[in-house]
Amino acid sequence: MKRLLIFDTTLRDGEQSPGYGMTSEQKLQLARQLEALGVDIIEAGFPAASPADAAGVQTIAREVRGATIATLARCTENDIEASAKSLEKAARSRIHLFLSTSDLHLEHKLGIDRQTALDRIARATKLACRYCDEVEFSPEDATRTDIDFLLACAQAAVDEGARVINLPDTVGYSTPPEYRALFESIRLRLSGVERVILSAHCHNDLGMAVANSLAAVEGGAEQVECTINGIGERAGNASLEEIVMALHVRAGLLPYETGVVTQLLYPTSQMLSALTGVGVQPNKAVVGRNAFAHEAGVHQHGIMKDRRTYEIMTPESVGAPPMRLVLGRHSGRHAVALRLADLGYTISGTVLNLVYDRFLRACESGKSLTDDDLVLLAQDNPPTSSKPPYELSLVQASAGTVRPATATVRITRDGETYVACALGDGPVDAVCTCIDSITGHPARVVGYDLRAISEGRDAEGEVSLRVVVDDRPFSGRAVGTDIVEASARAYLSAVNKCLATMGEGVKPPQVPAVALRAQKAPLGAQP
Ligand code: KIV
Ligand code: ZN
Repeated sequence: MKRLLIFDTTLRDGEQSPGYGMTSEQKLQLARQLEALGVDIIEAGFPAASPADAAGVQTIAREVRGATIATLARCTENDIEASAKSLEKAARSRIHLFLSTSDLHLEHKLGIDRQTALDRIARATKLACRYCDEVEFSPEDATRTDIDFLLACAQAAVDEGARVINLPDTVGYSTPPEYRALFESIRLRLSGVERVILSAHCHNDLGMAVANSLAAVEGGAEQVECTINGIGERAGNASLEEIVMALHVRAGLLPYETGVVTQLLYPTSQMLSALTGVGVQPNKAVVGRNAFAHEAGVHQHGIMKDRRTYEIMTPESVGAPPMRLVLGRHSGRHAVALRLADLGYTISGTVLNLVYDRFLRACESGKSLTDDDLVLLAQDNPPTSSKPPYELSLVQASAGTVRPATATVRITRDGETYVACALGDGPVDAVCTCIDSITGHPARVVGYDLRAISEGRDAEGEVSLRVVVDDRPFSGRAVGTDIVEASARAYLSAVNKCLATMGEGVKPPQVPAVALRAQKAPLGAQP
């Protein structure tokens, strides 16, 4: 197998795209993770862009010793010197020079002619070679550059000492056969090519970045430039995890190995999301939440018999959590029975038919059912159609720098109204304490997630929480622009599910559950 070099540009091409900015500490944390992941080259930034960028690269160059550290530089003295300074402490350093070469860019972006471009490339490469272990040159917009001029540019860089020639598909315009042919042609015509590594760098404007990168490898590229989660300018760069897993899964067709520890792909993707606050699209290949989830009935049936029926790689192989069977309207009877058996409810025959019919009805709105909902069905308690025991009618909380927070909650049940007031360590704690004191069934919150589902500071927040009551887990979810109120509704919905499993006889206790922290008073119909 041939060795393919993985050049990660998450911290440069990825980080420069909107929404992905990171602090120097965050960049260092990700760089350490990329080193553990086993990438060969980390492009750590663009030092001439800002003093913060330069400082970030400097720290990474000093701390991360297991990969070559690369920096981006235009073909100017100033950029090259800024790069050189940032890379001084690197164990192995690379300056990545670039200059636009397409006529479109030469005329409209740089305002220079072809000869001037050639002179700049030669001069910059010569200078950069003095300052680092290796120089890479990228003719920007290579795929829209006249091929003879592209060759002349690459030759100018190689003749002055560049050891890596990258041919970027800057605007994601190329197709796999075309991009492969470009590499075959340059490999054939570039003199001194045996001393040179050809590299692919693809953008995803037409969704072909990974396909183009793999085509380039087949055409002779020995390095691919890519990013975690495929982040990058506009539609992003080629996704590292997709390239690596394509090589892994299709090793027979693509006999190239990388140094990447595939089990760290998912944790690295998660780390990037956590650092930037930008989640991964659920259906993203390899690392998306749904990449190993199966909902369709026939798929679930097959997967349960033999995972290979619908799984070309295991979640374990990329370090993702074990496969999820999502129960929704496409799930078959068999999958529902098996999931219930896993949850401790063995049903079959007519009972299974009844539960399955109700399961399908509950899914009619297009929702997927949680384990708790399924348990309720099996216990003959429909999950959502019946009226919940308790209904929230008012939440008022006050919180700020003066502690503790206070809350008042009003809840109705069977025509009676209950009010509780409580103090808490923050408003969410205070409202939950009010609810506990009214229902008399204190729940322990074991998971709480808050996610903005729209933009802006008035975004709708989705609260999803998991609680445990008497060792049994229940979940609740609510959405609202007031996240304290949404938290109260999510909490009460989880408690309602618990109470529904206990049957109709459950009534609020006469004595407040948390008497010292809350007071409860039935108020009739009084607001
Ligand atoms: O897409 C591109 O052309 C680049 C170069 C700077 C390599 O990112
Ligand atoms: Zn790029």
